[in-house]
Amino acid sequence: MSEAVKVENRDGILVLLIDNPPVNALSVSVRKGLHDALDKAKTDNSVKAIVLACAGRSFISGADIREFGKPPQPPGMAEVLDMLENSPRPVVAAIHGNALGGGLETALCCHFRIATKDTKLGLPEVKLGLLPGAGGTQRLPRVVGPVKAVQMIVTGEPINGDEGLKVGLVDGLFEGDPVAAGVEFAKKVLAEKRPLKRVRDDNSKLDAAKKDRTAFNEAAAAANKRNRGLVAPLACAECVAQTLEGTFEEGLAFERKKFLELMNGEQSKAQRYAFFAEREASKVAGVPADTKPRKVDHVAIIGAGTMGGGISMSFANAGIAVTLIELGQEQLDRGLGVMKKNYDATAARGGMSADDVTKRMGLITGKVGLEAATDADLIIEAVFETMAIKKDVFAKLDAIAKPGAVLASNTSYLNIDEIASVTKRPQDVLGMHFFSPANVMKLCEIVRGAKTAPDVLVTAVNIARRIGKIPAVVGNCDGFVGNRMLSARSKQSDKLLYEGALPQQVDAVVTKFGIPMGPFTMGDMAGLDIGWRSRKDRGIKSEIPDALCEDGRFGLKAGKGYYKYEGGRAPIPDPEVEDLISKTLQKMGKTPRKVSDEEILERMVYPMVNEGARILEEGIAARASDIDVVWLYGYGWPIYRGGPMYYADTVGLKHVADRLAAYAKETNDPSLEPAPLLKKLAAEGKTFASLASK
Ligand code: 3HC
Ligand code: NAI
Repeated sequence: MSEAVKVENRDGILVLLIDNPPVNALSVSVRKGLHDALDKAKTDNSVKAIVLACAGRSFISGADIREFGKPPQPPGMAEVLDMLENSPRPVVAAIHGNALGGGLETALCCHFRIATKDTKLGLPEVKLGLLPGAGGTQRLPRVVGPVKAVQMIVTGEPINGDEGLKVGLVDGLFEGDPVAAGVEFAKKVLAEKRPLKRVRDDNSKLDAAKKDRTAFNEAAAAANKRNRGLVAPLACAECVAQTLEGTFEEGLAFERKKFLELMNGEQSKAQRYAFFAEREASKVAGVPADTKPRKVDHVAIIGAGTMGGGISMSFANAGIAVTLIELGQEQLDRGLGVMKKNYDATAARGGMSADDVTKRMGLITGKVGLEAATDADLIIEAVFETMAIKKDVFAKLDAIAKPGAVLASNTSYLNIDEIASVTKRPQDVLGMHFFSPANVMKLCEIVRGAKTAPDVLVTAVNIARRIGKIPAVVGNCDGFVGNRMLSARSKQSDKLLYEGALPQQVDAVVTKFGIPMGPFTMGDMAGLDIGWRSRKDRGIKSEIPDALCEDGRFGLKAGKGYYKYEGGRAPIPDPEVEDLISKTLQKMGKTPRKVSDEEILERMVYPMVNEGARILEEGIAARASDIDVVWLYGYGWPIYRGGPMYYADTVGLKHVADRLAAYAKETNDPSLEPAPLLKKLAAEGKTFASLASK
């Protein structure tokens, strides 16, 4: 008997219990166990029906992603699924937890499916740059109809057991032990002599859709609307459309072909890398895996501005109550008003019900004065970005917070150790750096101070995950990982203007690469006046943005900045800006040159990679993949390019280092000299990824 599949004959009902922690993936051991048991059952006349169920917290969560890209090991999934579907005895899948990807495809090859009401049933392969490759694109449309199927497959979003029952994906709901429920259902099937239903044979829902394809075409187009540069969503829709064209067998062959194309393509490789990078980032380097987090029941957020508001909403969205603290009633009311407006806007778009808005706002209690944080187990500070103010807040918190409370700052750039130094408990202090808009952006940089205790780090990672964020632990330095690399990029985007490039050219190159917004559009959104004032205070000049600000071009809020805005948020290239840049260059005695798009791209990306290499050398990030996670989830780096460090590996580090060295010389910029780690890896023909497997 296989370890991964336990077989038991309960009065003629053969129970196949998959036990392959942590998520019961369809690894080779599971496939082999199922294959052997089903093969044996063929000649065992005592077997009247078969129940497929899983041990642990979930049904099968998909194919084993770790096997992808490696030589296939028999038996293949198709062979095992074929045995299930063609079993002469009824097969019942009893599903709890998740039935995802290959897991749902397996269930679709069983003759009956029962599930718990909160089970997640879905085909999320698209999120890995793939499509369901074990018949899912052909079977799901036959069960739920092609319209529902295309929505589920293109978006990868699951439905729950309740909805599964409504759309016919499951035949019944159960509570409690899946094996007991499966056996009971199988007995009923036998007693009622229910005919064996093979999903592949039922074309009724397809025939109806073939008569009028409008609904299907509309659903496929809608599901594909936001697929920025990704190839998998389109391929998913094409496979589902195939159910309306040919036979089941033809559809399967088409699906197989498309699946292999995606599997071997660069996008899926990058997306699979991102899947594991995201999970790796939750493991805090140098901290024992069994470190227990501190208990967090009460949360306080200080500052109801842009970030404090967004962070509070993230907690409320996860059903966790927070106390939101401000300096005065006026600031508090303004902050709460903004949150309510945000929720109302989501409700107006159909994203949540009015009842949800009330419930979530009900979880946020506004208070004036820091004393309201006395009971909190976790306090997140999001006040103005000024060291003196932060120190003042932390000194006061030190005096009032309960012993063992975790004290976090949302600072973007400031030194966490300096903030911690004003408390008598630096071991409890760390950074939790959320990204704007905090209720939307997934990343939370967890900044480890010199004295931060291991269980405090684990608490922060845990709570970030509880509110649906993706944590990445980083070290303490100016701008941490994300903003430090962004600064390296900003330096180059600014310089490019003095060499002859235009804002719209730079932004177009960056967005074509897949990053949602270019640096100049971003600057306009953030407001150019803040940097201008800070430069004035420090006696620093930057001729082009200074000239823009002197002209009142403060960015989007002024209706003009690097671009002009005609009512909306869409940036429109402005001849006046071209004129202003050209005059500024003349004044400075500079002759603009034609800068190629290739150079722009290299100078937008490689300096970031170079800074990433320095970050690794200094131990500010433990793994190159952590840096990629920061960029994927904090800055909208396109997932199909895996992150800046992964991208550099795919381009080749020698090329990256050579180009940086050339730009350092050509533009007289020593900051572009390749970092020692980059040079070393390039010379050895290695990658950043190779550092992880040391
Ligand atoms: N294969 C291999 N390992 C997997 C896996 C899979 N399908 N799914 C999860 N894991 C691993 C994770 O890497 C992690 O490992 P670690 O502990 O060593 O870091 C561990 O299982 C636990 O995963 P999570 O931390 O994500 O656990 P959660 O409880 O938060 O989430 C989950 C569970 C919802 C199942 C989530 O892991 C998930 O979404 N998994 C991927 C599901 C998926 O995409 N399935 C389709 C696979 S492709 C496929 O089936 C192709 C087929 O069509 C042919
Ligand atoms: P903000 O100016 O919108 O809000 C700050 C709020 O803090 C104000 O409402 C103010 O009244 C309140 N406040 C000030 N002192 C206080 C005190 N002693 N007690 C209680 N409340 C107090 O600022 P924003 O943008 O929300 O930034 C907050 C922090 O988050 C800063 O450290 C910033 O660097 C960081 N951050 C900002 C991001 C952004 O994009 N805005 C992104 C990531 C981090």
